[in-house]
Amino acid sequence: MTKKILITGGAGFIGSHVVRRFVKKYPDYSIFNLDKLTYAGNLLNLTDVEDAANYKFVKGDIVEAEFINDLFRTHDFDAVIHLAAESHVDRSIASPMDFVMTNVIGTVNLLNAAREYWKGAYDKKRFYHVSTDEVYGALGETGMFTESTSYDPHSPYSASKASSDHFVRAYHDTYGLDVVISNCSNNYGSHHFPEKLIPLAINNIKNNKPVPVYGKGENVRDWLWVEDHARAIDVIFHEAKTGETYNIGGHNEWKNIDLIKLLCGIMDEKLGREAGTSEKLITYVTDRAGHDLRYAIDSSKLQQKLGWVPSLQFEEGLKKTVDWYLENEKWLDDVTSFNYQSYYEKQYAER
Ligand code: NAD
Ligand code: DAU
Repeated sequence: MTKKILITGGAGFIGSHVVRRFVKKYPDYSIFNLDKLTYAGNLLNLTDVEDAANYKFVKGDIVEAEFINDLFRTHDFDAVIHLAAESHVDRSIASPMDFVMTNVIGTVNLLNAAREYWKGAYDKKRFYHVSTDEVYGALGETGMFTESTSYDPHSPYSASKASSDHFVRAYHDTYGLDVVISNCSNNYGSHHFPEKLIPLAINNIKNNKPVPVYGKGENVRDWLWVEDHARAIDVIFHEAKTGETYNIGGHNEWKNIDLIKLLCGIMDEKLGREAGTSEKLITYVTDRAGHDLRYAIDSSKLQQKLGWVPSLQFEEGLKKTVDWYLENEKWLDDVTSFNYQSYYEKQYAER
């Protein structure tokens, strides 16, 4: 094995795509997936790689410092790709402390373990922190976030991610840890938990339930195909210089209401419904508190320096996403009924 990599949060939406990519593309790497299996962690996302010789799942909580230290003591990891987080803005408004614990304390625990157990060999190790464009705050009608945009987070979620980014940079500046950070825009694709806008809308339209649109639906998000994000992480992990930050985004801005209408049209077509049927489910609801108006990422640094470009046009990606959810009804039913949560006991507890 040429590299032993600890990927945190690998049972979640983006993490499962990253784990799958690394396990399949790099058979000579040894991939450890550390995940607490919160409501967002689902091992059914990874059934296609769970028996691979270069893959190991470890259930655990990054908030537990002793556990993390033991893990680093036992395994001489060459690198960490850190995705584990509480990730949903609405939940952060309801329970901010969960976000402080996992996103801030959990990240610092990992940094401390890396610092302690990698001592003296930082040039051969790498700590990759996966972050979000939300740390930059909100844009008006124009402009884009670059890597030098000042941090201005507004939600407890983005404040916790901003804090974790600062700690990662501080460990580079203070202790010389080899770190890289990427800040990505909104992802979409398969295995996305149906509390987030796109999978929630797909599920509700499928079940003829109201599709909640916050406020007037005028907020803008910049959507990126999740596999393009995983590919960017791969490139940055292997090629970025130490201490660098890269923005990742799709150059693909959509007002929420326009996106939902596009999705309604696709769903009508796929479900054989008369055009206009699904749009009738759109229901305007009370706006999210502190709702950021617009995000847009300038990813030209990543495109120019490392040659990454998004691969998929949005309408095509959205159709693929809808197809995946319609073909994977059992996944959706298990997730919405929380049936997937016993999968660990059935498949792993005995191993
Ligand atoms: P997710 O909520 O789908 O998955 C998070 C994973 O982390 C889950 O598997 C969960 O079980 C695990 N986890 C949570 N708390 C943990 C803890 N204390 N210890 C160990 N594991 C824990 O999130 P996602 O959407 O896949 O996001 C992954 C990362 O990417 C996050 O850091 C997020 O901030 C970042 N990000 C997400 C997006 C997006 O659009 N979803 C965009 C940019 C950046
Ligand atoms: O920008 C990157 C971020 O994108 C990630 O860091 C977060 O982890 C991820 O959850 C996502 O945050 P958003 O808040 O942008 O995503 P969400 O899917 O929750 O909402 C997208 C937009 O849709 C936002 O403007 C709020 C709106 N919305 C959301 C939901 C769930 C609705 O109008 N109705 C809804 O029911």
